[in-house]
Amino acid sequence: MSPDNRPIGLFDSGVGGLSVLRAVRDQFPDENLIYIADQAHVPYGPRPKTEVAKLSHGIVRFLVNRDAKLVVVACNTASAAALKKLRASYPTLPFVGMEPAVKPAAEETNSGVVGVLATPATFQGELYNSTVERFAQGVTVLQHTCPGLVRQIEMGHVADAETKDILERALIPMLEKGVDKVVMGCTHYPFVIPLIKEIVGAEIEVIDPAPAVARQVGRLLDQYDLRAKTGGKGQIQFMTTGDPEEFSRLLIQLVGLESQVKRLVWIKGELVER
Ligand code: DGL
Repeated sequence: MSPDNRPIGLFDSGVGGLSVLRAVRDQFPDENLIYIADQAHVPYGPRPKTEVAKLSHGIVRFLVNRDAKLVVVACNTASAAALKKLRASYPTLPFVGMEPAVKPAAEETNSGVVGVLATPATFQGELYNSTVERFAQGVTVLQHTCPGLVRQIEMGHVADAETKDILERALIPMLEKGVDKVVMGCTHYPFVIPLIKEIVGAEIEVIDPAPAVARQVGRLLDQYDLRAKTGGKGQIQFMTTGDPEEFSRLLIQLVGLESQVKRLVWIKGELVER
């Protein structure tokens, strides 16, 4: 079994997927990673499914050209819009996608009421609806899209009054209905878990699926014999279609990583490095 040091690719509309990158990094420090933030198009949530699918395919083409050995679609919205077709287009490339953690929430609820916070596109997707249908029979699943929350997090406003207002509008009605688990159905939202806990209190469990997603990455690395060996020194390359300086500031603020960030631009549907 020889080591495979090709990178794992991860992408999101913006900084959200960093909540997944953090978990992958923690569990697999040997792996080289490439992270792409499509901040020229953030938020993906309100965009038509066809547009998000097209952007996702463009990003995956770029990652494949960079020799990615596995791709993590670190975005619930892009997973809902594109995962199925991506798997069909690249049958030999392993993908890990996001799916709101309705199953563990529904299995472990005592009150029989769980809450999910996600974007409108995720709630409309087949992936989410089939998960609710299969795993949440007999459980009340409350949903909220938290309008404006992705933008607040993209600005690094993870603890201010406006962000708290948005969360209270979503969570207080859920609390009144007896929710005891709240699922992060958007990869941006784990960055406001401290604020969510302030609102819901210690009794309510907030579920961030990132560690479970990282474990799935590990299973696929083993299944396809793709593990890297770098003595815990895996490199991470960050790229954004937005402002690299701003992204680099958020990297420090949100995940405590200091790194250079490269700029990408979209040209006729293809990502090009600038
Ligand atoms: N972080 C993304 C998700 O998991 C996308 C949020 C957005 O761009 O609207 O859904």
